[in-house]
Amino acid sequence: MVQRIAILGSTGSIGRQALDIISAFPERWQVIALAAGSNAKLLEEQIAIFKPTFVFNLGKRKIEGAQYISLDEMAALPEADIVLVALGGSSGLEPTLSAARAGKVIALANKESLVMAGEIITSEVKRNSTEIRPIDSEHSAIWQCLKGEPPPRRIILTASGGPFLNYPLDELDRVTPEEALKHPSWKMGKKVTIDSATMLNKGLEIIEAHHLFDIEYDKIEVLVHSQSIVHAIVEFADGSAKAELAFPDMRLPIQYALSYPERLENKALPQLDFSRLGELSFRTPDLEKFPCLKLARTAGEKGGTYPAAMVAADDVLVDLFLKETISFTDIPRYLEEILSSHRSVPSPELGDILEAASWAKEKVKEMVKKCGSQ
Ligand SMILES: NC(=O)c1ccc[n+]([C@@H]2O[C@H](COP(=O)([O-])OP(=O)(O)OC[C@H]3O[C@@H](n4cnc5c(N)ncnc54)[C@H](OP(=O)(O)O)[C@@H]3O)[C@@H](O)[C@H]2O)c1
Repeated sequence: MVQRIAILGSTGSIGRQALDIISAFPERWQVIALAAGSNAKLLEEQIAIFKPTFVFNLGKRKIEGAQYISLDEMAALPEADIVLVALGGSSGLEPTLSAARAGKVIALANKESLVMAGEIITSEVKRNSTEIRPIDSEHSAIWQCLKGEPPPRRIILTASGGPFLNYPLDELDRVTPEEALKHPSWKMGKKVTIDSATMLNKGLEIIEAHHLFDIEYDKIEVLVHSQSIVHAIVEFADGSAKAELAFPDMRLPIQYALSYPERLENKALPQLDFSRLGELSFRTPDLEKFPCLKLARTAGEKGGTYPAAMVAADDVLVDLFLKETISFTDIPRYLEEILSSHRSVPSPELGDILEAASWAKEKVKEMVKKCGSQ
């Protein structure tokens, strides 16, 4: 049976790769809805190829032959079998929640939505007897390793370490956006690439794993594994550990999230040659060099609206770093200030989360402006 897919964020890195996968299996999947932000040109090209019934773009540009609907409507489309959320940053929150409320199977790349509102989203998913199929490679790996297993003793998320893994700490304040965008293993959108360089991304993934797998923070660890072949390790009570290994290519976890529980042969995906892998190394991350990792873990552990404030502030800070308004090391500095001045709401509802996010965006802009004028 052909499954009907809605892709939110189709013009981004994950969205484009999802369309690649779907194109390789026309007998399995049909694109019925596409949503983009401001890249209307690419969206039009995608519409010409995939002929979706429903579209969304930020500019509300009319597109012949397709019905314009809101992002929230698209996320809850009765016609969709799977909603793939590949929106960037905090823009993914409300559509992911709409998909969960509508009982949709969610193929989720947008980690920020779970970080901001993990309890709300996961309880809606349970209430509506649906599921989240993770696309983030580490979480896809954990999901695969946990199948048929009891709760684990601990899980280990691996991190490539980004472009500054071996960079001197005292030179980090001078790195340029161009240098920070040169990720050693993955080709991704700009925001997640900068988050990987600061390692905030790994901190967000700790919170994402906590919500997705209902596991306590003290059982989630991070190890730097610069080869990016082992995506996560899960250890059980008897000391036995399972890991998932694959070439670093997001098309694989995207395909698995769509095909689950089936595994499909796809000749376009690169295969591992174990005889040529060489050394696989693991080491603990340097928290002095990458303070964002610790900040995010603390925000997750404290809960409330801290994670939402952090995600929203980071959306702004990454943008300002890319525009060369602030330095690379300003990102953790401002995030720390935001977290220490935030008044968190315990057990927040959606309104509290959105309020915390808009407070953090305004506050961080104000802080940067004040600093610039001194
Ligand atoms: N890329 C990866 O390899 C990777 C790996 C793991 C997890 N993820 C996660 O997947 C998500 C997407 O990452 P990405 O790298 O694909 O990002 P990206 O390349 O920046 O793409 C983001 C997509 O969201 C759209 N978008 C952004 N803001 C929007 C808004 N307000 N309304 C509607 N559409 C909006 C963009 O549209 P326009 O481009 O048209 O403006 C684009 O289609 C992130 O949460 C990221 O952490 C990504």
